[in-house]
Amino acid sequence: MKSGPSMFDHEVRFAGISLLVDPVDRKRVEASDNVMAILHEEQCVLWEFVREDIRAAIAHVEGSIDLLDVGTGSGVAAILVAKHIGAEHIVAIDKSSRAIRTAAKNAARNGVSFTLRGEFYNTNSAPYRAAKVIALNAPYHLYPREIEMRIPQHARGGIDGQQVLREQLCIANYHLADGGIIVFNQMCLGREGKPGFLEYIPHLISGASVRYTNVFGPIATADFLSKVYDGKFAAYQEQTSRDYPELYFCDGVITRDGNNTVTLVPHNIDLKGRTWADRIDLHQQIALHANAA
Ligand SMILES: C[S@@+](CC[C@H](N)C(=O)[O-])C[C@H]1O[C@@H](n2cnc3c(N)ncnc32)[C@H](O)[C@@H]1O
Repeated sequence: MKSGPSMFDHEVRFAGISLLVDPVDRKRVEASDNVMAILHEEQCVLWEFVREDIRAAIAHVEGSIDLLDVGTGSGVAAILVAKHIGAEHIVAIDKSSRAIRTAAKNAARNGVSFTLRGEFYNTNSAPYRAAKVIALNAPYHLYPREIEMRIPQHARGGIDGQQVLREQLCIANYHLADGGIIVFNQMCLGREGKPGFLEYIPHLISGASVRYTNVFGPIATADFLSKVYDGKFAAYQEQTSRDYPELYFCDGVITRDGNNTVTLVPHNIDLKGRTWADRIDLHQQIALHANAA
């Protein structure tokens, strides 16, 4: 039986917090873009996967910022950490003014406070090597270039769904403290049994190990794209599936520990009945925005 937050909810409760978000089908414009919905298999499962790593890093790593929440959206990561870990030095940023206004309301709803700033993530977002924990949930929807500007910004991460994550990792390399961690969720194209982020993380974050889990096992990129786009954008579907035949949905922890190891771990987190079919429904809804004038 499926349970947990739905992509059409405006108000969501999980893990002892309450959030206002935008339903995925809210009509958007660039200047007032949607605040990302909460999906059980995404933010809720990520929290279960990384909660104790965050607690340990905040307790033991040296740095002036406990959590740097990049692209905070509804404020979900900052609010969870403020409420359940009691961290005092949290900075949350987002390029979307609607996200910042919503995160401020959500912080008040949950009786927590932290620094919130509307800005593009950049090296001035925090001091050099100051962040014990950096949360990244970069956009990863897959789309052809011709519809890029009609995809909601919470989902617009470049045509391979990885451009924004790569950019954010480059900047996070500057902010991450020694021994600090980056926690992330990502749907990610891959090949030869591995998600693509394993190819580029070692180039972008120095002296780091990666521990990750497949929230769901990988599926064929061609199947996913054909269900999301039906017969449309055939050349894009073919090229993407040829370059990256596999599609992954992962949670991960990158630790600046100097060891350069990669570990795939199983998880036993309750998925509450969620499967790739729910992911396909979500991405179909996101793709529908491309039909807007
Ligand atoms: C996938 S949503 C995640 C939102 C929230 N962290 C969550 O987990 O629900 C990505 C968020 O990052 C923001 N964003 C994307 N690129 C950004 C950038 N370069 N600088 C700051 N915010 C960015 C978007 O506006 C959006 O709110």
